[in-house]
Amino acid sequence: MAKMEVKTSLLDDMIGVGDMVLLEPLNEDSFINNLKKRFDHNEVYTYIGSVVISINPYRSLPIYTPEKVEEYRNRNFYELSPHIFALSDEAYRSLRDQDKDQCILITGESGAGKTEASKLVMSYVAAVCGKGAEVNQVKEQLLQSNPVLEAFGNAKTVRNDNSSRFGKYMDIEFDFKGDPLGGVISNYLLEKSRVVKQPRGERNFHIFYQILSGASEEFLCKLKLERDFSRYNYLGLDSAKVNGVDDASNFRTVRNAMQIVGFMDHETQSVFEVVAAVLKLGNIEFKPESRANGLDESKIKDKNELKEICELTGIDQSVLERAFSFRTVEAKQEKVSTTLNVAQAYYARDALAKNLYSRLFSWLVTRINESIKAQTKVRKKVMGVLDIYGFEIFEDNSFEQFIINYCNEKLQQIFIELTLKEEQEEYIREGIEWTNIEYFNNAIICDLIENNQTGILAMLDEECLRPGTVTDDTFLEKLNQVCATHQHFESRMSKCSRFLNDTSLPHSCFRIQHYAGKVMYQVEGFVDKNNDLLYRDLSQAMWKANHSLIKALFPEGNPAKINLKRPPTAGSQFKASVATLMKNLQTKNPNYIRCIKPNDKKAAHIFNDALVCHQIRYLGLLENVRVRRAGYAFRQAYEPCLERYKMLCKQTWPHWRGPARAGVEVLFDELGIPEEEFSFGRSKIFIRNPRTLFKLEDLRKQRLEDLATLIEKIYRGWKCRTRFLLMKNSQIVIASWVRRYAQQKRYQKIKSSAIIVQSYIRGWKARKLLRELKHLKRCNEAATIIAAYWHGTQARRELKRLKEEARRKHAVAVIWAYWLGLKVRREYRKFFRANAGRKIYEFTLQRLMQKYFLEMKKKMPSLSPIDKNWPARPYLFLDSTHKELRRIFHLWRCKKYRDQFTDQQKLIYEEKLEASELFKDKKALYPASVGQPFQGAYLEISENPKYKKLKDAVDEKIIIAEVVNKINRANGKATSRIFLLTKNNVLLADQKNGTIKSEVPLGDVTKVSMSSQNDGFFAVHLKEGSEAATKGDFLLSSDHLIEMATKLYRTTLSQTKQKLNIEISDEFLVQFKQDKVCVKFIQGSQKNGNIPTCKRKNNRLLEVAVP
Ligand SMILES: Nc1ncnc2c1ncn2[C@@H]1O[C@H](COP(=O)(O)OP(=O)(O)OP(=O)(O)O)[C@@H](O)[C@H]1O
Ligand SMILES: [Mg+2]
Repeated sequence: MAKMEVKTSLLDDMIGVGDMVLLEPLNEDSFINNLKKRFDHNEVYTYIGSVVISINPYRSLPIYTPEKVEEYRNRNFYELSPHIFALSDEAYRSLRDQDKDQCILITGESGAGKTEASKLVMSYVAAVCGKGAEVNQVKEQLLQSNPVLEAFGNAKTVRNDNSSRFGKYMDIEFDFKGDPLGGVISNYLLEKSRVVKQPRGERNFHIFYQILSGASEEFLCKLKLERDFSRYNYLGLDSAKVNGVDDASNFRTVRNAMQIVGFMDHETQSVFEVVAAVLKLGNIEFKPESRANGLDESKIKDKNELKEICELTGIDQSVLERAFSFRTVEAKQEKVSTTLNVAQAYYARDALAKNLYSRLFSWLVTRINESIKAQTKVRKKVMGVLDIYGFEIFEDNSFEQFIINYCNEKLQQIFIELTLKEEQEEYIREGIEWTNIEYFNNAIICDLIENNQTGILAMLDEECLRPGTVTDDTFLEKLNQVCATHQHFESRMSKCSRFLNDTSLPHSCFRIQHYAGKVMYQVEGFVDKNNDLLYRDLSQAMWKANHSLIKALFPEGNPAKINLKRPPTAGSQFKASVATLMKNLQTKNPNYIRCIKPNDKKAAHIFNDALVCHQIRYLGLLENVRVRRAGYAFRQAYEPCLERYKMLCKQTWPHWRGPARAGVEVLFDELGIPEEEFSFGRSKIFIRNPRTLFKLEDLRKQRLEDLATLIEKIYRGWKCRTRFLLMKNSQIVIASWVRRYAQQKRYQKIKSSAIIVQSYIRGWKARKLLRELKHLKRCNEAATIIAAYWHGTQARRELKRLKEEARRKHAVAVIWAYWLGLKVRREYRKFFRANAGRKIYEFTLQRLMQKYFLEMKKKMPSLSPIDKNWPARPYLFLDSTHKELRRIFHLWRCKKYRDQFTDQQKLIYEEKLEASELFKDKKALYPASVGQPFQGAYLEISENPKYKKLKDAVDEKIIIAEVVNKINRANGKATSRIFLLTKNNVLLADQKNGTIKSEVPLGDVTKVSMSSQNDGFFAVHLKEGSEAATKGDFLLSSDHLIEMATKLYRTTLSQTKQKLNIEISDEFLVQFKQDKVCVKFIQGSQKNGNIPTCKRKNNRLLEVAVP
């Protein structure tokens, strides 16, 4: 199984022992041998409990890859082989999950790999914490602050090619999810003396070399720099180039990092201008010039460099020049100006350079902090990473080394306090039996340095502040007096006889037995460095610079803010900031990385036993292991312990109802862990041997797997059952549907069969019934017929008999009548004349006629000529009379009707009659006109003032006055015209104003043409050659065509005694000026309602569409 290859415990494939606590036997040799063995196998990390020992491999190992990050991510501390990532992961997770602020303390001497370790911690945390654009930017800015600070704050020393020359503590801030929010960097005392002077074999800060190697010609020119290192006095020459370091490419990295961190272009520019100014300051040289008072005054040798500096920084050259020659001392509102000699001038120059550079560095830190500051105000969790300069022992150790070593001393103390002391105290607190382990507590050394009354730093301050001549020697004297008896202080001058003959200790030195060894400090420069004096003239000159950055770096140069109080000394400042740092660290959960340097040659693969042994000793690592071993390797509060391992015992799994401690007791008892392997404290269980812990972990893992299997099993069972139940239910549903469907089909089949059978039966029954009914009916009918026949026969017989009887009676009557007649005639013959028959006949006729007329009188119809009623004729012989009488009666009543008419009415009827004769059955428009009365004067010409002119022009009686449409012969469009018919003329006048357009005597009108259809178009044809005919015939349209044509006809007839020719045809010719145009009437659509439309089709055809 591939899984087998994954390490699950620190114990897997262990080279030597991964945790020194497991070392057997435990002594210095075995300790070193174990480290060496592991180092030889590229295992540079080893644990002492939770402390990581890191040995600098001096070469790149493939153990920091992203895969490694993943491997260590979320794994238990003891699960994998020791690694700085395991410690980082542990710290990050307890920060994220348990809400404990963390600090990672990285200690070790210069070159032991602290800075590298701090970067590894940061990069690991960056890799495992949250993702996202914003978070990534924060991470990137945090990480990129490193190259910037290293370029300005690191330098090559004899011990380390990239030695941190400042202390750095960085708080990385996280939100509740563990996503980084930002950070705060604190810096501690930059070793600024390096700016002006470097020990042999060492370099100035990297940035100077980087700028000269990496900047473009153009940029260098802008900064007034030259590429040649040897041009600059401040750059130590003997090791300007460092093997394996590419200053030029590093410069690009730094610029890029500055951009990422958020430096504006102008800020970057200003920073490099200050760097250039510092470099160039070193080139200013002074010469003595005798003055009248016999004193030497310094003068600048070559002012060229000064001029360039002033151009670069915007400082007034004369101001700076004066500041290098004079010094103003202010005391009680009095200003005294003294000249500077050459040495003082050099001192002033160097002080300025150091101050400029160190303030620039502090400004950089502040500026970076501004960029990486967390943006939110939410509660933050903090992980602090401390990378401070390592313990240093040089040939010549000065104030800086003293300060650095003091800092390391404090760190060692905090380590002792938090691990050794805390460990022992915890056992006591927890009531665990414990035999005290002796360890060296360096509190006494810290006290020697920092004690407020008798401490070296206090002494130095006192000396600096003391009036009178103060020198380094007076300081040493004082030390010798006060500290002579201190067991960690050594001096030849002290009264203590111990060192009187110690020739290794020069007179101008003192020696301190630090926890990490004895260090001899040259007292020279202590006072000056502690004072950190910059002449006020210089700071004022800087403040006056026309350069915003430089101005900001020297706020005390502002004359408005003159402060006569001495600024705090470098020593006291440092002491205060170290105290704050210690306080800060004590509030956090510490994680230790103790770096060890394997050799002095910065070489890979070399393990110098003596050197390592020395470090192990002073780091107190062996004591550390002993304390761990004497006590218990692992401890945990009962609740989390029970929570973690409760699954290992039936009684505690899944819930333990009692107190946690009892639960753990039951658990350990059940697991059969030997009693000597653990101890119950008040709140914690202590496990003596890590192996026990590993065993527990293994059991837990195994059990977890079993539990997982169980859960999986139950889950699978549940899943299968759920699925089964679902399928079962589904099956029931499906089956019910299928059954229902089948039953439905069966039922339908049965139903239809039943219907068929039923219908057959019904049919059969019905037919049977029908047959029966038919039979019955036929029987009935037959009876009826027979009865009818019988009745008929009887009736006919009766009728025959009656007829016979009647005939006989009639015959009898006739015979009787004839007989009577004969008898009467015979009797009366003698009384009758010859024509009596005729007279009787006539009389009878007369009687009948009389009766007829009298009857007619009674039945007479109404006098209305349209009443069609007429009584029926009574006698056939009166047929013709009856018809004649009807005709006469009609004529008579018509006459009667006519006689009622006035002349006016008569005229109208005449006209109507005329119209009927002219148009009836000829023009389709005619029937509609029958009901319309002919009014003639539709327009009130005489009344309407608009037509006054027209009325005046026409003096005859107006027969017709009506608006007609005159059809434009060119396009068929209509124009309104007034049509006037007088006794003699036809006139056309403008409708608007009454102007006469045409006047035609009736005699010139030859013909009127119109269609047979239901339209009002008509053409008035004029006599050829007449005056009116020059414009051609008129084509008009009117709503009263029938009336107009009739009146025109009648008027023409009465005036000219000639009948006007009225032509009714659907196609006729009209004379238009010279041309004859055919007007053709066609059947049109009803598009425009019932209005006929007229369209000119071509030159010869005008088409009228009649709907
Ligand atoms: N884990 C590592 N892997 C490879 N090389 C390392 C490692 N740690 C340190 N080094 C090498 O050792 C050199 C010195 O390390 P580093 O600068 O971290 O020392 P330091 O303890 O910070 O020293 P100082 O106190 O002088 O700042 C590095 O420049 C690097 O070349
Ligand atoms: Mg470092």
